Amino acid sequence: MNLKGGRPEKFGTIAAFFYRLWAEPALSALHARIAAEVPVDEGRLLDVGCGPGRLTRAIAERHPRLLVTGLDLSADMIRQARRAPRLPNLLFRRGSPASLAIENEFDFALSVLSFHHWEEPESDLAGVHRALKAGGRFWIYEQNPEASDAEIRADSVPLFGFLPVPPALHRRLARGHGFSRREVEMTVAPVAAKTPFGALHVERSGSTFRLELRK
Ligand SMILES: C[S@@+](CC[C@H](N)C(=O)[O-])C[C@H]1O[C@@H](n2cnc3c(N)ncnc32)[C@H](O)[C@@H]1O
Repeated sequence: MNLKGGRPEKFGTIAAFFYRLWAEPALSALHARIAAEVPVDEGRLLDVGCGPGRLTRAIAERHPRLLVTGLDLSADMIRQARRAPRLPNLLFRRGSPASLAIENEFDFALSVLSFHHWEEPESDLAGVHRALKAGGRFWIYEQNPEASDAEIRADSVPLFGFLPVPPALHRRLARGHGFSRREVEMTVAPVAAKTPFGALHVERSGSTFRLELRK
């Protein structure tokens, strides 16, 4: 069961196609901000729930000495991600963190707008922990339904290039696809505490929360 208590979302062929066509361009400002926040410049980075990989690719382009892996449970999302031209430091894999047979390999991991979908959050967090090197950090970005109008506007571009999403609608969507501070404290932190990560550090980051876990 995911931590929002919602129905599992599959991201099949049609959803993956339209996610790449419509949702990713609308997230370009948020993705640009997050790509600029990545705190490592070399080594290996894991992007969990990468979707069609626009952010994953932006990170690989910005950091040519970083070997970037995008991981996603949906074969259709990975198929969309592989449609763009190849980069020497970027690869995409299908799977969940729990299914990764990888130990102590990644210097840094992040997950953007994906964690609230995870149906097995505890075992997937343990999988990310296993995949990280000692001292490695995992940053989870999730929408904050209590973000201000200014924070939302700074992270937004108009839908289809011309249709601005009103902040109130953004907040309403974020209630179903994000976590309030209370939900982070009452729902997410207790799950993280049951994993080898233990404590969760919460920071406001634009229209999102950035939850940091450290190995
Ligand atoms: C809303 S999309 C976000 C995609 C991308 N991170 C972005 O910022 O545009 C959520 C993605 O998380 C993936 N996902 C859900 N549960 C997952 C899990 N347990 N492991 C890996 N990926 C997962 C879904 O397949 C989907 O592609």
